[in-house]
Amino acid sequence: MIRNMNSYPLYDDGEHKVYWLGIEEAEDEKGILTNQYLVIDGNEGALVEPGGFFVFSRVLRNVSSLIPPTQIKYLMYSHQDPDVVAGLNLWFEYAPLAKVAVSELWVRFIPHMAVLSAGRTIGIPDGGMEFKLGNSVIRAVPAHYLHSPGNFAFYDEKSGILFSTDIGAAAFPEGEWYLFVEDFEEHVKHMEAFHRRYMSSTKALRAWVRSIRKLKPKVIAPQHGAIFRDENVGKFLDWLDGLEVGIDVFEKEFYGD
Ligand SMILES: [Fe+2]
Ligand SMILES: [Fe+2]
Repeated sequence: MIRNMNSYPLYDDGEHKVYWLGIEEAEDEKGILTNQYLVIDGNEGALVEPGGFFVFSRVLRNVSSLIPPTQIKYLMYSHQDPDVVAGLNLWFEYAPLAKVAVSELWVRFIPHMAVLSAGRTIGIPDGGMEFKLGNSVIRAVPAHYLHSPGNFAFYDEKSGILFSTDIGAAAFPEGEWYLFVEDFEEHVKHMEAFHRRYMSSTKALRAWVRSIRKLKPKVIAPQHGAIFRDENVGKFLDWLDGLEVGIDVFEKEFYGD
């Protein structure tokens, strides 16, 4: 059983702030644990990976303690999974000025979730794009086939934090949880099976690692599991670079030798 924890600051220079948005008792009993993040620049906010239905009240409460939800400019979705998007109708109501940022592949699927979504979606082209937030920029970085075919990580330039969608996800055993990776070698045990099965292609993974190394992120913050900082950022990218996943291992895993 995971205990309550409120939001936690990942970056704060007075003008620009980034928060992890907490966790609540027994969320691990309801479904896979998820991370939500809030970026604030001046008086504008961007909610990254807003999350599903059962986390909504916790995320809303923690967001509201940091910025009025009416000042949220973007709801940024890496991909279309329920643990990422299922709270969308509720967010549309509580953050009436916010626009949804999602891969253009998913724009015509969103109306199936939210009847009021017309005119409120920004389709991110395959090559990515930049979002202006206050005086800062959040860049959508392609992460296609990792695992969704239309998938983006989001890079907050000012803080150097990369929100890495399901890449870097860890599924903790029951009762175990921590916010920051401390022992990388131990942490790998919680990531390996997830990446081999949920990521589609080794080629896609290596291309992503190459593009991320150029960005030189200071922190990598996935949608599940724990956050990588300091030397663990490099260790994580090296580990990904050597991993075989998805269609490159499926024959053996599904059908044996
Ligand atoms: Fe996913
Ligand atoms: Fe996920």
